[in-house]
Amino acid sequence: MCGIVGYLGPQNPKDIIVSGLKKLEYRGYDSAGIAILDGGKTKRVRAAGKLKALEDKLLSEKFDGHIGIGHTRWATHGAPNERNAHPHQVNGVSLVHNGIIENYMEIREDLLARGAQISSDTDSELVAHLIAEEIVKTADLYKAVQKTLVKIRGAFSIVAFWEENPHQLVAFKDGPPLVVGLGINETFVASDVQALLQHTNKFIYLDDREIAVITGADIKIFSAEGVSISKKSVELNWDPQMVEKQGYPHFMLKEIYEQPRAVASAMAPHVNTEDFSVKLKNVGFGSPVHALDELESESDWKKTQEVLKGIERIFIIACGTSSYAGMVGKYLFEQISKIPVEVDIASEFRYRNPVIPNKTLVMTISQSGETADTLAAIRLAKEKGATTLSICNVRSSTIDREAHGHLYMNSGPEIGVASTKAFTSTLAILSTVAIAFARTREVINQKQEQEFVRALLAAPSQMEGVLAYDKYFDEAAHRLKKYKGFLYLGRGVSFPIAMEGALKLKELAYMHAEGYAAGEMKHGPLALIDENMAIVMLAPHDELYEKSISNLEEARARGAQVIAIGTGDNEKLKSISQYYLSLPPAHWMINPLLEAIPLQLMAYHLASSLGYDVDQPRNLAKSVTVE
Ligand code: G6P
Repeated sequence: MCGIVGYLGPQNPKDIIVSGLKKLEYRGYDSAGIAILDGGKTKRVRAAGKLKALEDKLLSEKFDGHIGIGHTRWATHGAPNERNAHPHQVNGVSLVHNGIIENYMEIREDLLARGAQISSDTDSELVAHLIAEEIVKTADLYKAVQKTLVKIRGAFSIVAFWEENPHQLVAFKDGPPLVVGLGINETFVASDVQALLQHTNKFIYLDDREIAVITGADIKIFSAEGVSISKKSVELNWDPQMVEKQGYPHFMLKEIYEQPRAVASAMAPHVNTEDFSVKLKNVGFGSPVHALDELESESDWKKTQEVLKGIERIFIIACGTSSYAGMVGKYLFEQISKIPVEVDIASEFRYRNPVIPNKTLVMTISQSGETADTLAAIRLAKEKGATTLSICNVRSSTIDREAHGHLYMNSGPEIGVASTKAFTSTLAILSTVAIAFARTREVINQKQEQEFVRALLAAPSQMEGVLAYDKYFDEAAHRLKKYKGFLYLGRGVSFPIAMEGALKLKELAYMHAEGYAAGEMKHGPLALIDENMAIVMLAPHDELYEKSISNLEEARARGAQVIAIGTGDNEKLKSISQYYLSLPPAHWMINPLLEAIPLQLMAYHLASSLGYDVDQPRNLAKSVTVE
């Protein structure tokens, strides 16, 4: 993962780089560092731990100069200490790196045999050595980078400068994302546009194996082999304010509260609020991402319908929270559109040589659009002849660019490492697509379509209603503190939400939690039940409600401590639980959107009351661009 920022221009790079790194800390926070070319000499400051430690060190440092790079690290090779922090510096070459160099052992041995002085345990420093060796021969950073690329294998992005040429920054991407931000007489490079939104809204997204050579305000892009490439810039309409906390103590809380709006924005382009119908807008099967806004909507919708009509099964592939959204998608597509669905975790799918029959649609879900395993999965699916459709939050991200068709969460930037609004926005999009599929394939009639759409349109205000009960979720969270283990249970469409609830508790509060299908309790988990084990039961009023109650009774009879989440003022659930949280009555398709909120808020409150950093949980990163 790791976050990279580079700057070349008339301003002092320090503040630009540090403020950029702040926006990228979600990518890693094991150490941070900055290198600026100041009066012909590179000044480097690095610190172990979060960016704050670097900022504290920088208080006593003065910088001049116009070129610099910075890095926030998620450790892969080498412990998270200052020695291993980036930028790495070898003979005037400064370098930051994101990703993994697979043949680093070999390179290290070769370098040591040649007498290199290696001062860290990282794979990254080795790249700086290789470039420094080449630069002695070429006296040109771009050529030295190009020559180095043939010696290294893996998935990585790098940005470097060389003391002898204070007007040049060279960036290379093969795997982890890199964007070039275009200013007036100044140029930026970063792992994510969020780092640069306060300076520019114009970006060039580097594709794999492209090198950007930034000399003053001039930007040239080459392939790794040196062929010049002409690339279009993209203008984004994201507001820099969107990446601020806006008064909330944490991004995560802000993002939880943004969910009603995010869900409304996710469905808005596709839902007609007058006749309650669905038409997927500018999915652009076969069109490049940058041309989507210019498509004629009616003919694009016809094309989408043709694609949907030809599909006989769906695979949904994703990682982490996105994969639980995909599991909800299985229930939606099978029940609403009557089409078989397989859901796969991307890291499994990509290595199990999956059988993908003809007429398969492979849908990927990825907030960042950069998750390495999901990206590999979509590439594999394409190789095997599948039609692909991506659901991303970040437009023009790698997965978005590589998919045949494109849908967006429209959640706005999500900064908290644990995904919240991207999750519920995805559920809204999946519901919309399921309705579109069903209608196109004529498995529902207009009246049924209208019922589904009405239910969807009601969701944002119902979600507002659930958020209004936050103080009860906070109270429930405090009760959870005393338990040592947690089982989150649900049936049907609530089962993936139980899995997601358990994940939230693990990632934020560092407590052991498992999500289980309630019907599976008797096949093992019942043995776990004692006074230290809490059950969080999702039992909304749907067709499986009675069965959920029976499962809960079985657990309670064995002494389980229960927090139940159900519909309305439910006396039965109240009587068989220690704590009852009520949700408003809703359509079964909407229940997952509502259930997600108390689970997110309980994990949030519990973790923050324990003093944990909810926006940046230990050992995790938001965008996992390595395997
Ligand atoms: C990381 C994040 C999760 C996220 C997952 C998938 O593990 O911490 O919050 O769900 O990656 O990310 P994606 O960007 O592909 O949705």
